[in-house]
Amino acid sequence: MKKQLVITVHSPQGGSGKSTIALNLALEFARKNMRVLLMDMAAYGGLPAMLKQPVRGVGMSSLITILEQSSDLPPFEHFSGYFREAVTSPREQRDFHTLFSASPLKMESLSSEYAAYMIRAAQKENYQVIVIDTSSELCKRNVACIEAADLLLVPTLQDVASGWKIILFKEIAASLNVAKEKIALVVNRCTKYSGFNNRELEAEIGYRLLGEIPDVTKIVQRGINAGVPMDLSEKRKAVVPFQQLAQKILTAGGTV
Ligand SMILES: Nc1ncnc2c1ncn2[C@@H]1O[C@H](COP(=O)(O)OP(=O)(O)OP(=O)(O)O)[C@@H](O)[C@H]1O
Ligand SMILES: [Mg+2]
Repeated sequence: MKKQLVITVHSPQGGSGKSTIALNLALEFARKNMRVLLMDMAAYGGLPAMLKQPVRGVGMSSLITILEQSSDLPPFEHFSGYFREAVTSPREQRDFHTLFSASPLKMESLSSEYAAYMIRAAQKENYQVIVIDTSSELCKRNVACIEAADLLLVPTLQDVASGWKIILFKEIAASLNVAKEKIALVVNRCTKYSGFNNRELEAEIGYRLLGEIPDVTKIVQRGINAGVPMDLSEKRKAVVPFQQLAQKILTAGGTV
């Protein structure tokens, strides 16, 4: 594997499981004793809720303010102290770190320059894996996240609308010159009842299918009812597909 791996989880399909996959994959790497930063770059970042963490006043908000108040982008050595203060460690796993997003308004106005700077600042820290959660819209912030990726994971659902959006997204990825080898599909909420053939989707789209995650609605719902967040690590059956996905990524050395 490369010394440091940037994995961006992005899909044109809203609700396809980007945050669920980003979170559980990041936890999986941390469980393998890899130092991980999970960056929430979504406009309506949901990771604090999924991790049951208070949000206000932490995360990217202060970092964006610093960037907005500087006439030029600050040198990284000046920025890194603030960056480290903005990072939290919400789990007992010492290798798992999170940088939560700012408010939706602040995230929406984040330029590609600032987004790219923030990712570069993360890369300056000694993380082995940086997992970036994005939102679905095609905006400059998300483009910066896509362009920074060593591996672009694209969650999709087993339906025609979702598949069609991925076909449209192919054009976007090509126009951004993202190498096809860096892109991989993850089919989420798989169920044998859908009649949807994941291999046909892979052949049709032309991106490698790297993971298939079953629908675990019952497990998720039970967890929510019990006040447990979307961290599936304690649910053995649910966590296996994420373990397999993490292993495939490491075995492939970060590219697919
Ligand atoms: N494999 C799964 N089985 C059951 N429920 C799932 C699965 N993956 C995700 N979900 C549920 O689907 C919903 C959407 O998931 P998630 O928030 O991860 O998607 P997203 O792509 O990040 O959405 P958004 O576009 O809003 O950011 C959540 O309620 C989540 O709990
Ligand atoms: Mg999300």
